[in-house]
Amino acid sequence: MKIFVTRQIPGDSLEKLKVNGNEVVISEFGRPLTPEELLNGIKGVDAVLSLLTDKIDGDVMDAAGPQLKIISNYAVGFDNVDTSAATKRGIIVTNTPSDEVNEAVAEHTWALILALARRIVEADEATRKGAYKGWEPDIFLGINVIGKTLGIIGMGRIGSMVARRAIGYKMNVLYNKHTPDPDAERELGVKFASLDELLGASDFVTLHVPLTPDTRHMINKDTFAKMKRGSFLVNTARGQVVNERDLVDALASAQLAGAALDVFDNEPDISPELIDNQRVITTPHIASATWEARLKMGEQAVAAILDTFSGTKPQNMVDEKVWDTRRK
Ligand code: DGY
Repeated sequence: MKIFVTRQIPGDSLEKLKVNGNEVVISEFGRPLTPEELLNGIKGVDAVLSLLTDKIDGDVMDAAGPQLKIISNYAVGFDNVDTSAATKRGIIVTNTPSDEVNEAVAEHTWALILALARRIVEADEATRKGAYKGWEPDIFLGINVIGKTLGIIGMGRIGSMVARRAIGYKMNVLYNKHTPDPDAERELGVKFASLDELLGASDFVTLHVPLTPDTRHMINKDTFAKMKRGSFLVNTARGQVVNERDLVDALASAQLAGAALDVFDNEPDISPELIDNQRVITTPHIASATWEARLKMGEQAVAAILDTFSGTKPQNMVDEKVWDTRRK
């Protein structure tokens, strides 16, 4: 079997692919592939281990050829893959959710919440530039997190891990998802709220929804207008969930006191109006960048390919139905 890996990944899990005479080609570029490089690399392969920077649509699947059996996406999100085109063709798509990755994203979300509340990045920059002249009563005043209201939009695995950490800060936690989650309410003391109620009451709003047609730009000028004045936004989900133009305006009018963004609308480009704004903290899509998370993601992505080849249903299929209609 031939396997194309679109980029080297941390750890040695790719070694495991080299069994049963498999031919493993790892992109030599060490950067996101251009569409042409992806088309060239994928031609004639049985499996591709892809990254969220690889846009895999029906044309790319067809260019690969009828032997392509699995797209093993090294990410929790799979908005880079046209999953209905894959289903139509009997191609398996898998992703890599795990406690390790979800905890890593929840921890990064909390790093950003605390950094916003206590102005850590601004303070660090100023100190390095020599601005610290001795203790002062009023430099870099932030706010306490304890007792504030946290609004979690999207209460899946990551959302609940974020909520669990809020218990330590004695926060009121509101959440919004399609349907209320009585288990989470019992276990974590969180309260279901409509989107409008959540936006109006939260001091911090954090996004944990996947990118779908319904969530694209779900945070926009109308939703910013409903947010509590002077609140903060954290996005470790997908950049396109937020309308960045409207975000810039919400910051300019001080409707929003600050935002912390790990993801952007048009990665890796970041609008200068965000990157030059002192009240915006940016990190380069690293919420899952811990050794624990990335090693686990590698293990899962590799296992999905090997299982598919050996006729064992892989874990984390995005569309389980494909198992019965899969290409052999
Ligand atoms: C994911 O897994 O979807 C993250 O955005 C990248 O690790």
